[in-house]
Amino acid sequence: MSNTVIASLLSRTTTSLYDPAATLSDEQIRELVRVATTAPTAFNFQNWRFIAVRTPEAKATLRTLAWDQPKITDAAVTFIVCGQLIDYSVLPQRLAPAVAAGIMPAQMVEGWQGAARGLYFEQPQRQRDEAVRSGAIGATALIYAAHAQGLGSTPMIGFDADAVARTFALADSELPVMLVSVGRALPENWPQKPRRPVADVLDFI
Ligand SMILES: Cc1cc2nc3c(=O)[nH]c(=O)nc-3n(C[C@H](O)[C@H](O)[C@H](O)COP(=O)(O)O)c2cc1C
Repeated sequence: MSNTVIASLLSRTTTSLYDPAATLSDEQIRELVRVATTAPTAFNFQNWRFIAVRTPEAKATLRTLAWDQPKITDAAVTFIVCGQLIDYSVLPQRLAPAVAAGIMPAQMVEGWQGAARGLYFEQPQRQRDEAVRSGAIGATALIYAAHAQGLGSTPMIGFDADAVARTFALADSELPVMLVSVGRALPENWPQKPRRPVADVLDFI
């Protein structure tokens, strides 16, 4: 197997050491998020938000809430990738651009909304699961968008979720699913670690 997507998957690593002098413009940050948000979500809900923490003051604050990890102040930006609890009532609005583009027939919207209502209405655990799924998929796409630009990245769960939500004014309907630092990686970073054998993680039925 060889193509550019596979080569990207095979060559990505987590960055620990960043060049603190390297910065990203707001336009570069926007482009990373534009690419990341082409990732799939259930019903195309796009139930996510990306908070780009990139000023020295905001980075210093976030670092204190994230196990004092130096990547947060050294990387150009750290995204707080938020997943949003599913609210089925916003679905027509989320699907409208696909209808306007002639991709999705308008009469399908009601059916999708009914299915979403059946799945998520008054189901807080499912709403939360979907927020975490969407946030994790969005964070993954962001990591590979950064890799494609020659940038290093660090997914992080080492942070105080309640404190991050409070300090960065997340809505009650939002969860900080993951932090993702992005910046210029220094050459001293580890190579990719070996993985468990496929035979240990794959079952055929
Ligand atoms: C959900 C998640 C949370 C992680 N949290 C942290 C973290 O808080 N700090 C850190 O340095 N690395 C963190 N990592 C990076 C992992 O340690 C790393 O992905 C793993 O060791 C595999 O290495 P590789 O990404 O270089 O292949 C996290 C990765 C994931 C996917």
